[in-house]
Amino acid sequence: MSQKAKSVDSPLLTAENIKKHFPVETGIISRFLGDEEFVRAVDGVDIELREGETVGVVGESGCGKTTLGRTVARLYEPSDGSIHFDDQEITDVSGDRLKKLRKNIQVIFQDPMSSLNPRKTVGEIVAKPLEIHDLASGDEKRERVIELFEEVGLQESHLDRYPHEFSGGQRQRVGIARALAVEPKLIIADEPVSALDVSVQAQIINLMKRLQAEYGISYLFIAHDLSVVKHISDRVAVMYLGKIAEKGSTEEIFENPQHPYTRALMNSIPRVDKKRSRRDILLEGTPPSPSNPPEGCPFHSRCPEFIGDECVDREPELEQVSGDSGSEDSSHVVACHWQEKSVEERQEQDPFNRERRSRAASREIPAGSREITHCTADITRWKSSSMFGLRDPSCSAFFSHRETTTRSCSGSTQTTFEPLPMAAKLLSGALGQRARSSLSHQRYP
Ligand SMILES: Nc1ncnc2c1ncn2[C@@H]1O[C@H](COP(=O)(O)OP(=O)(O)OP(=O)(O)O)[C@@H](O)[C@H]1O
Ligand code: SF4
Ligand SMILES: [Mg+2]
Repeated sequence: MSQKAKSVDSPLLTAENIKKHFPVETGIISRFLGDEEFVRAVDGVDIELREGETVGVVGESGCGKTTLGRTVARLYEPSDGSIHFDDQEITDVSGDRLKKLRKNIQVIFQDPMSSLNPRKTVGEIVAKPLEIHDLASGDEKRERVIELFEEVGLQESHLDRYPHEFSGGQRQRVGIARALAVEPKLIIADEPVSALDVSVQAQIINLMKRLQAEYGISYLFIAHDLSVVKHISDRVAVMYLGKIAEKGSTEEIFENPQHPYTRALMNSIPRVDKKRSRRDILLEGTPPSPSNPPEGCPFHSRCPEFIGDECVDREPELEQVSGDSGSEDSSHVVACHWQEKSVEERQEQDPFNRERRSRAASREIPAGSREITHCTADITRWKSSSMFGLRDPSCSAFFSHRETTTRSCSGSTQTTFEPLPMAAKLLSGALGQRARSSLSHQRYP
């Protein structure tokens, strides 16, 4: 491999307004009426990656991280948006151009066991990309595989073993060697260390950092472990329900997080040395379904810093974080209505203002001031049991009960379990979906 100097100036990948919507199988009536539903796994994401840079993508399970990674690697066709890689438009490439692109964008998968062919030796697995891209054959190929093995800390004697004969960390090294074989410019690393224990995680992360410093590879590093992301990333993008909630330099995101969701994620990092402060917010509940996302701010149904109607009525755009918020990073952007407020307005409406909080809780709000409570929304789930119930678009089961969890001002939750009327149970397809969307995401005063 040729040695490259690390440069962080030129954009290698620019993805704009990327959407990936998966069609949901609906009933015959829905299809007939053209009332199709989609899982909006990625819903308008902009992401940029420079040469030799690592951008971490974090967020809860199901927020669309893998789908984003696979879409920019063109393993999925984007539903909308444009992708530029290495000064070329790659949104619609196919055939030979797509094959060439595969050489430059490689993927490391979360579960090394399921991504390695159990019938092939690891030597054959690592040699395969060299064959596909006509990069080496015969002795030259074998030598190149041995070189790659040494590069990732494996030995020549491992060549003829099968994947099941390795530990998790060794298998991930095989996955990295396979990705490196074609000398890619970008590696999409989808939770590459999540399946490994902590000491092996550190070895793999250090290996990836060393390879990056040597060869100038860029990484899109997908993870839900924030401490790993902090360690390896130059910049971080926080995703929620298929969208970017906040992004900026790693230092800014960790030292000066602005989005309530980012702060809640930070607070989820276990720590033993620090007491929780009143500003510490914890994440409750589960994200809404990406096939029926809430209107307004996608996070409003769980947001502990909910401002008021504007959070429900209007979706916040990604805005540059103002200097008032202590930001020194011009690339730090956040999608939250708090960003549009002046310092005075923020102090006035500060959700952590103890006086305002206790007034909100006791409902003793002086005439003329605006009531801002944490009673934002309920979370409605559908219980499957009957073949004739309503159908959830995100899975193929039918539903007969409705489970509603309501969060009160004090943060306590209450769950009710309500059977649907027989008439509703008998509805399916298009009719059922309309009934469901009118029932879900009811707002609480
Ligand atoms: N092929 C598919 N068809 C339909 N829906 C899909 C498909 N792949 C993903 N989804 C849905 O898209 C959403 C995002 O999935 P994705 O795998 O990208 O999330 P993730 O952030 O990577 O989650 P995790 O951290 O659990 O890996 C989920 O609701 C998922 O169910
Ligand atoms: S826009 Fe409103 S609901 Fe959304 S994160 Fe900001 S305060 Fe919370
Ligand atoms: Mg994933």
